[in-house]
Amino acid sequence: MDIESLKKEILGFKVSSQEQLEEFRMKFISRKSVIGELFGKMKEVSNEERKAFGQKINELKDLAQDKFQELIRELENSSSSSSTSHKDLTLPSGFAPLGSSHPITAVRNEIIDIFSKIGFNVSSGPEIEDDWHNFTALNFPPNHPAREMQDTFFIEKDPDIALRTHTSSVQIRVMENEKPPIRTLSPGRVFRNEAISARAHCIFHQVEGLYVDKNVSFVDLKQTLYFFAKEMFGEKTKIRFRPSYFPFTEPSAEIDISCNICGGDGCNICKYTGWVEIAGSGMVDPNVLANCNIDPEEYTGFAFGMGIERIAMLKWQINDLRLFTENDIRFLEQFKSL
Ligand code: DAH
Repeated sequence: MDIESLKKEILGFKVSSQEQLEEFRMKFISRKSVIGELFGKMKEVSNEERKAFGQKINELKDLAQDKFQELIRELENSSSSSSTSHKDLTLPSGFAPLGSSHPITAVRNEIIDIFSKIGFNVSSGPEIEDDWHNFTALNFPPNHPAREMQDTFFIEKDPDIALRTHTSSVQIRVMENEKPPIRTLSPGRVFRNEAISARAHCIFHQVEGLYVDKNVSFVDLKQTLYFFAKEMFGEKTKIRFRPSYFPFTEPSAEIDISCNICGGDGCNICKYTGWVEIAGSGMVDPNVLANCNIDPEEYTGFAFGMGIERIAMLKWQINDLRLFTENDIRFLEQFKSL
């Protein structure tokens, strides 16, 4: 057997099917191949020639192995390229799965839309706040219980810095930077040191409303919130104001709407009263206006603040606040149409 002609045969071998590849393997790679036979012949070669002969057939073996790998690759490439060329380019493409807005985002946007119809713009402020914007400028007396540790997440090394406990801090930032008339809505995340339950969370969302101009009165506050309640929960929604206290408003009121989960009959969401609280509100305290260099003799204003989760729970009859942050796809998928 001539080694040189075997070399040529190996180098010139072409395959276009698995069968031909197998043919190559049988002929040059397997134990019974011609190369295997050549190794068998080593014994018959004279001592002087053995070394050179051994080297030659080892080279031949390496050549065959390299070629075999090359043929495998060639065959794979040709089969995959032939399958691509058979793809039907006229077929419609598959559907990419679409996500959806988180219900909190959807409600926030709806609230913004409703208030923008009556001239409110949108403003924002930082989630990490200083004492001035979160408390002092909002007229919290120095030892007010809301400043205490159980409610507020303070930064350990600096008692002046905290995670904002409400979006009322944005009122201050807007009034410090703008002159009336001001009509703004400030949605955002707020933080409180509370145990997590179906009705409370340490992270939630609020939207703050602020209207400051000449001659703004409590009547404007009432009509604005009544308009919002009807837009959000339907024409039949009733609204009531209960006297309350907030350091930054005087007078202050809590706003209830008729419970749209039980229709006013009583359920665990409305604590069997038929009414649910949706917001705190009031006339901006003159001290707060003065703290922001707005003359309380010239201007008056109203403010309100509501929890976005609460509005979403009422709107979709969701009875557990924790669902909003658990990211359970079975829950989130129900809001796909938003
Ligand atoms: N900041 C209050 C809270 O977090 C909500 C609030 C009440 C905001 C009355 C207001 C307001 O603007 O006038 O509970």
